[in-house]
Amino acid sequence: MRTQVGIVGAGPAGLMLSHLLHLAGIDSIIVENRSRAYCEARVRAGLMEDWVTKLLVETGVGARMQREGLAHDGIYMTFGGELRHIDFHKLIGKRVTIYGQQEVVKDLIARRLADGGEIHFDVADTSVHDFNTGKPKIRFRHQGKAQEIDCDIIAGCDGFHGVCRPSFPAGSLRGYDRIYPFGWLGILAKAKPVADELIYAYHDRGFALFSMRAPEVVRYYIQCAPDENLDDWPDEKIWDELETRLGGVKPLPRGPVLEKLVAPMRSYVAEPMQTGRLYLAGDSAHIVPPTGAKGMNLAMADVRVLARAIEAFVKSKRDDLLENYSKTCLGRVWKGQRFSWWMTQMLHRYADASDFDIKRQIAEIDYVTCSEAAMTSLAENYAGLPME
Ligand code: DHB
Repeated sequence: MRTQVGIVGAGPAGLMLSHLLHLAGIDSIIVENRSRAYCEARVRAGLMEDWVTKLLVETGVGARMQREGLAHDGIYMTFGGELRHIDFHKLIGKRVTIYGQQEVVKDLIARRLADGGEIHFDVADTSVHDFNTGKPKIRFRHQGKAQEIDCDIIAGCDGFHGVCRPSFPAGSLRGYDRIYPFGWLGILAKAKPVADELIYAYHDRGFALFSMRAPEVVRYYIQCAPDENLDDWPDEKIWDELETRLGGVKPLPRGPVLEKLVAPMRSYVAEPMQTGRLYLAGDSAHIVPPTGAKGMNLAMADVRVLARAIEAFVKSKRDDLLENYSKTCLGRVWKGQRFSWWMTQMLHRYADASDFDIKRQIAEIDYVTCSEAAMTSLAENYAGLPME
């Protein structure tokens, strides 16, 4: 097989990159080791920055999001029995949109296939080769048969556990890492929302978050141990704990739990995000703790930068944008890291926290929910820093 851009991974990054390249008249092929059904069902955060919703609409893949997504003007924070609101729209004129990541994936897969795009699902033993010698190749097996894609550029959109990042030559990449001493226990449930917007809760028993997916589908998270055993958490215990940590805001409308999970919390950045003609985008290059839901937004920013750089390279033989790809992305990535870390450390209870630490956290949440300057800073990071 031969294409201009070989893409490893059919998550939001790989699919959006393929879509943007197609709109620029550039061919790509995607290989994905999971099935289409798996990709379309994989539940992740579901919160889009202002510019991401605009990108989906402007590139013709935002129609369902516009119908089904829930536009939110701001968020709530609760601590010490108080509920405070931060109104992004009033502060900076931007909103965020609640729309599940897997819905974005479904819309992008449908659109790529409708546009004649090539996506190979269920492949095995994917590997990337010769990206430092000018003739990059992706090898994989499909239904037992060995396959090879010759391309000009490889995009590694294969997630944190993918094959692309470990394929960097020894010593050419540095990882910056932080592991948090807690995880999130998350549920998806069919129940009425307790509020019209998300609630971030700071509590002596740990962090909790109310979010939603659809008018009657709610998503909740509670801070737990990183290796928490789900068997210890029957549904009623989860609801009781949520109700306590959300500060008894109101009795929580309960309903059947559709899904339960434990998510680890980690910050990681790979530098640089490029070697030769292999470019990393999204989780393959960096992951954030979930607080603030920056993961997919950072992935979308990477592929927008990459698509433009590839277009300049293919159409005008300009390689300066490709040369600067890593530097351009990392500026935003580190700001996303900083914000995710900051939200995480402000809102979670650390097992070794001193009374001083706790008082400081409360002062910070108090400040960030009453000072217009502090709320504006939170709002512009949460709703998405400008892309240009
Ligand atoms: C969701 C997840 C987050 O981490 C967050 O900060 C907001 C919302 C979610 O899954 O809906």
